[in-house]
Order: sequence, then structure tokens, then C-alpha cells
Amino acid sequence: MKKITIAIDGHSSCGKSTMAKDLAREVGYIYIDSGAMYRCCTLFAMQQGLIAPDGSIDEAAFQRRMSEVQVSFRLNPETGRPDTYLNGENVEAQIRTMEVSSHVSPVAALPFVRAAMTAQQQQMGQEGGIVMDGRDIGTAVFPHAEMKVFVTASDEIRAQRRYDELVGKGEKADFQAVLANLRERDRIDSTRAVAPLRQAEDALVLDNSHLTIEQQKQWLLDRFHELTAAS
Ligand code: DC
Repeated sequence: MKKITIAIDGHSSCGKSTMAKDLAREVGYIYIDSGAMYRCCTLFAMQQGLIAPDGSIDEAAFQRRMSEVQVSFRLNPETGRPDTYLNGENVEAQIRTMEVSSHVSPVAALPFVRAAMTAQQQQMGQEGGIVMDGRDIGTAVFPHAEMKVFVTASDEIRAQRRYDELVGKGEKADFQAVLANLRERDRIDSTRAVAPLRQAEDALVLDNSHLTIEQQKQWLLDRFHELTAAS
């Protein structure tokens, strides 16, 4: 059977990556977390001193050095999930900190950053058989994806999920700060000039505010089987 391309887009912390990972595993596809790629760009800029403490970005220097950012994913045999590598180094933990989260949206809004990451994403998905999650996958990266899902959930529920994730990893977190960060990222992601977060016209919409992980997994699998049976 022909392997299709699956694009899962939506707001921050609405569980896209959990859904996308589960779906990829169930159907034997490769999972790619495009948000991790923008987080790698941010980490790179922080490490290279291209983001000042006040958050301002040295765009000219960053653009000159953009070709130095190579992102890849490798399966971690212990977790059974892919880890993110920046120029060959495993940065899975480093890219999930609040510090990276607080700088990532302005970085992801830079046109040269988007152009570089979109090219890497299209390269990774050229054979099909992938599930990629992000903000612009169904609209800009793979506008012809056979299956597109747009996920959302209420702000408070999404903040609670992110908060629990941070606390679970032993990071100190403040719920109000997490909520404010999430709203600010949604605002920047939805209003930027290049490839803003928006629902593709042909996307299936899933509000998972009141769904369990098991229920959303089943919903996705049902949609996948409907689509692949029809094609
Ligand atoms: O999904 P996430 O929170 O890990 O994404 C990190 C940031 O990257 C988020 O603020 C939006 C941005 N992003 C994007 O602009 N385009 C994507 N395809 C994926 C993420």
C-alpha cells in the first residue's frame, strides 16, 4: 500500500507530539517533530551568543551561520522514541527547557530560519510514510499531504499539560508563567508574516480538551484507515 504523508498542526502543548508519535508507531511510519527543529535553531543561537539576555537576536550573524544548523533524529533504543540531534549532538533534554521555550517563537518567525528548516523537513519527507507535527506542516511544508489534522484544546488545559511535563522532568515551574508563555507563543506563531499557524482548509479538526490519550489515538487511527482505504 502506498505510504501517505500525515501533517498534524495546532497550538502549543495540545498533545500533537504524543498523538503523532503514537500514530506513527501504530502504522509503522517515521515521526518527525518539526518544533524540535526550531528549538535546535534557538539553542544554536543561544550557544553562539546570537541572542542577547534581553531577547534581541543578531539576525545578520544568525543568517550567515544558518547553514551550520543541521538537525537529525535517531531512535533512542531505551525510550523507543526518536531523540533530536543538533550537528550530531543529542540535545533532546536541552531543547525542552523553559529558557529555549521562551526564545523559540521569535526565532521561528525569522524567514531565513523557516526557509532552512522547511527545506530540511521536505527532504526528510520526500518518500512519504511520515507523520510530522508542527504549525505549518499542512499549509506550507506539505500542502499536498493526504491526511491533515488540526488539533486544539483550551489554554488552561494545554498549560496544565506543559506544567505537568516540566515538573515531571524535575524542572521548577510556575503555572501562571507557563500559561503566559504559551499564550505569547500562540500569539507570535499565529500572527507572524511567514507561514503563520492556521488551519488548512482541508484539515480534519480535533479538539482534544476532553479526550483521553487512548480516545484521540483511536480517532486518528480511524481517520487514517478511512483515508487509506479510500485511496
Ligand atoms: O511544538 P513546539 O512547542 O515544540 O514548537 C516550538 C516552537 O516552534 C513554537 O513556538 C512554534 C514553532 N514552530 C513553528 O513555527 N513551525 C513548526 N512547524 C513547528 C514549530
